[in-house]
Order: sequence, then structure tokens, then C-alpha cells
Amino acid sequence: MPGYSPDVLEDLRQGNDIVDVVSQYVQLRQTGANHVGLCPFHREKSPSFSVSSHKQLFHCFGCGAGGNVFSFITKIENFGFMDAIKFLADRINYVLPQLDGRQSASVAEKNQIYDIYKLAARFYYDALQEPQARHAVDYLNHRQMHHAVRRKFGLGYSAGKSVLRDYLKTQGYDDAVLLKAGLVLESKDGKGFFDRFRGRLMFPIFDVAGKVIGFGGRILGEGQPKYLNSPETPVFDKSSTLYGLNYARLAKTHSIILVEGYMDVIALYQYGFKNAVAALGTAFTASHARILKRYCKEVVILFDSDDAGIRAALRAIPHLYSVGLAVRVAVLPDAKDPDEYLIRYGSENFAAQMAKAMDFVEFQIENARHKYDLGITSQRVAFLKEAAEIIGKLGSAIEQEAYLRDLSTKYQMDQGAVKQEIDKKKNDEPLLISNFTNNPPAAPAKSHPDAIAHILYSMATNQVLYEKILHHLKAEEFGEPLYINIFNIILKNRKAGREIIVADIISELEEKEQQQAAAIFARVTEYEDSQMQYNALGQQITRVKEVHFERSINNAAAAGQFELMDELAKAKNRLNVNKIVL
Ligand code: GTP
Ligand code: MN
Repeated sequence: MPGYSPDVLEDLRQGNDIVDVVSQYVQLRQTGANHVGLCPFHREKSPSFSVSSHKQLFHCFGCGAGGNVFSFITKIENFGFMDAIKFLADRINYVLPQLDGRQSASVAEKNQIYDIYKLAARFYYDALQEPQARHAVDYLNHRQMHHAVRRKFGLGYSAGKSVLRDYLKTQGYDDAVLLKAGLVLESKDGKGFFDRFRGRLMFPIFDVAGKVIGFGGRILGEGQPKYLNSPETPVFDKSSTLYGLNYARLAKTHSIILVEGYMDVIALYQYGFKNAVAALGTAFTASHARILKRYCKEVVILFDSDDAGIRAALRAIPHLYSVGLAVRVAVLPDAKDPDEYLIRYGSENFAAQMAKAMDFVEFQIENARHKYDLGITSQRVAFLKEAAEIIGKLGSAIEQEAYLRDLSTKYQMDQGAVKQEIDKKKNDEPLLISNFTNNPPAAPAKSHPDAIAHILYSMATNQVLYEKILHHLKAEEFGEPLYINIFNIILKNRKAGREIIVADIISELEEKEQQQAAAIFARVTEYEDSQMQYNALGQQITRVKEVHFERSINNAAAAGQFELMDELAKAKNRLNVNKIVL
């Protein structure tokens, strides 16, 4: 579902004070910090419905209903989330931006940001030539990056504190616009502004035309986060930006090579492969695929050779295939990523490996095969079923036939049996991107509180996960005021561009909640493998949504809203089909 940016939601929340909004439906009386009244969501004689102006939350101690102003409106007006947003926007004469993922910004505003980025890119670039950037230069030397390539990609260095901010001030840009451009952050005490990127190796991000639209900053040496990227701004939309496309486009090759990271794009370029692009630390999207379709006929996926890389490749395939691109997958032996491979084995070997890139169906089937012992009949059958599923996703009968033939020759399978399996599948499953994807085995299911705890923890501590989770879950779905509260605190800090640590969240809570929150975060287990964490989160988000639906269904039942109940039950069932994949 497309969504409005957190900034828009924040504007609406701030513009629609919950006490004012609720007062239009419920007679409220102030008691201390809160306002109380008779709950509109269940029958009661003494007031247990409470609205906090400070937290901008409501909660009913009687029926457990609770949430922010959006959940209140959704619930009381029986709106979908989008309708609630429109309603609240109208209420304060707020003009909603276009829902294309960008804020509606004027041309003048965008041009100003482009101008600032041009200056910033130049400033970082010059800083890399200064003596203070010695360790950044050492790092690049150590990684054997040629000077010509550093220049070509405009690599730079962000020295620290507020040097960039101070410089841009002398050029006539104030903090408000620098904040909007994502280059400065406001300090926690609200007393000053400082540079977002400090002590990092800087990669300007270019659009297809070569205009700077954002930055990525790599930490020098070890530490977290390894890369810090510009936030989304009026000129930067991550889901439709591909790093390196400005050069790959000019290569005018039949194929474009899709790699994972900045360093891979640059390494390939250095070794003469000028047709590589990378998504920027976000998942490869359908929109990325549509863009690539304009510039090439074939995409060769070349991800890191670890499990995460293989899974990411399996996830990118359906997007590329759906837009009509030919897809192959290359696997480099004896190196963790393309960058390392090139340095170790050089261009010739690399070219040979690329020529050997596998057809994507073959890659999917090969990948499935590794999970089974084909010597055991039952596993052979399971493999056959999985292969049938992969082939069944192909759009045309001709394609299916061709792969069927290959499969039966290669694994001595009976072609007719596989075909039967495909036809059977076709009848009972809709074709969805999510079941096209080859999902890795499930992590152990977790309880609802554990799920919530891990989701909140991931949002607080990891920017990438934060964005992904925000895409799937709304505040109200966390159900309990405490969770919603924590969720909102994380949101608020993230929006201000602040790094969050768990203790910060706790200190923002009221005293009696601090203990509970500490207990919640204490039960979070960390995942060693990030793919495992992603998988677990997919399931946990599903779990949270299920519980939310159950809760809403119960509420609807209690209120005698049987139609709503029915709708909710259907929506809940859809969750089981449309599995959430991060
Ligand atoms: P090196 O590790 O220096 O070789 O860089 P790389 O470009 O190969 O990075 P890696 O393979 O670790 O990650 C691939 C891409 O994911 C990076 O280029 C970034 O765009 C993104 N990425 C990696 N780590 C982070 C992170 O901590 N935060 C964010 N936002 N993005 C990241
Ligand atoms: Mn790398």
C-alpha cells in the first residue's frame, strides 16, 4: 500500500490535537494531565476513556481501545486508514502531497536542494584532498581504488562537527533548508545544528542525468552503521534510484549488471565493466526493475556470494522477470563480493564468470535442489514439486515447456508428472510476487509480546529495518498504548534524524512505564544473521497484524457490527496468502 511520509502524518497529528478531535464525539473532562469521558467504543456508565494531550494518545481502561488520533478517527468513523488521513487533512485545510512517495515540493525548492548538493559534493571532494583526510585516503589506497575512479565517482570526505553546515551558511543557506536537504541534524537539546555525515567516506548519489540527489557515507573501519544514507527528500526517492545508472546508461550495453553495493559498482567500473548499478541499501523494487527496462534487455544479477546475497537475488528475480527483462544470475567463486573477486582474480576471470551466468530459472531450481537429498524418494518428490512451482510461475506455455524438458533431462524426472504438478498448482494458487519468491525456512514462531518487542527494537536500532517495518505496520496495529507510545517515540526520533538507543526511548516514557518498557526490551534476542532477522520480522509483523485483526473483530462483535466483522475476518485471511516479506 502506498503511504504518506511520516512527515505528513506528523503534520496531521500535530494539526489535529487529539483532545479537540475526541471532544467532537465525547464529552471530556480534565483530570490532571488527562481528559476522561465515557468510552464511545463500548457501553459504560462510569468514565474509563482517557485522552492524553501530552502523548496525543487515547486509551480505554474498560475495553482496551487505544491509539492516536488516526486510530480514533478510523475507529469512530469506521474509516480505512487513507480515509482517516483525508478526513483529518480536510479538518485542518491541509493539502496532502501526491502519493508518489515524494513530498509535493515546488520546482524552486527542488532546485535549491540540487544547488546545495552540488556545493556539498564539491566540499566533500575537496576535503578528501586535505591532510586531515589522510585515513580516508589510506583506506581507499588499501582497497586499491584508482585515483581516476575516485574522481569519476566524486568520492569525498566529511570531516565532522559542522564544517559543511558552516560552509553552506557562508553560501547563504540557512538551517531550515539544510535540514530539509538532510545534510544537518538538530542536536537533541534543540540548541544547535551539526552535520549529518561526520568522519565518513562520502559517495555522492547521482540521478540518471548525473545530478547529485543525495549521499551515502561509509564509516572508516569497523562500526555501525556501516553506511549512512541521505534521508528521502523532495529530490531523493530510494525506491527509484539506482547507484551507477548515470554511467551504466552510457555504456549502452545489452545487459546491465546488478550488484549490491557502492563499492561493487565502482570496482566493476575500474576494471572496465561500466554497466553496473546497485540499489541503495534498500530492497530491489518493481520500480527499480521498470527503470532498468528502459536501458537494457537483460539484467545479470551479481550479488555477494553469502546466503543473504542468494536470497536477495531470489527476491529480485520476479520483479525483473515481470517487466519483461531477461534475467541471469552470476556467482563468483572464492570471493565474498565482486569487488574482492576483481582485485584477486582480475577482469579476464571476471568476464569468464559473467559469461557463465546462469539462466534465472536454472538458478532457482539449482538453489532448490541444494535443499534436498535426491537419493531419498520423498525428498525427490518434494524437490520435483518445488521445481514445478518455479516453472509454473513462467508466463508462457512455450517457456514452461522448454524448462520442463531441461528439468526432466537433467534430473531424469518424468515430464508428464511435473506438468501435472504445475497444472494442479495453477488451479489452487493465485500468482503473487510473494509466493513466487523462494522463501527460506521459517524461524521459530514467537509469542505476540516477543514479536512486538523485536519489531520495536529493530526499528529503534536499524534505519533500514525501521523504514521497512514502517511500510507494513501502523501505530494502531501495535495495540497497547505502551507499544504505541514506544513506536511513536521511535518515529519522532527517526524523523528528526536522530540515532536512537533503547535507553533514550525508556527515558522518554513516564515513570511507571519505564519498568515495563525495560522488561520488553530485555526479552529481545538478537539475530546473528541478518537474513534470519528479516525472516523473523516478516513473521512477527504478520503475527502482530493477526492479533490486531482479532482484537478488531472482537470489538466489532461486541458492538454488533457484523458487516465490519466479516470484512475484518476476510482481511485477516488475506494475511495468510499474502505473506509479508521484508
Ligand atoms: P564494502 O563493505 O565497503 O565493500 O561496501 P559494499 O558497498 O560492498 O557494502 P555491502 O555489501 O556491505 O552492502 C551493500 C549495500 O547496502 C551498501 O553499498 C549500502 O548501500 C547498503 N548498506 C550496507 N550497510 C548499510 C547500513 O548499515 N545502513 C544502510 N542504510 N545501508 C547499508
Ligand atoms: Mn563489499
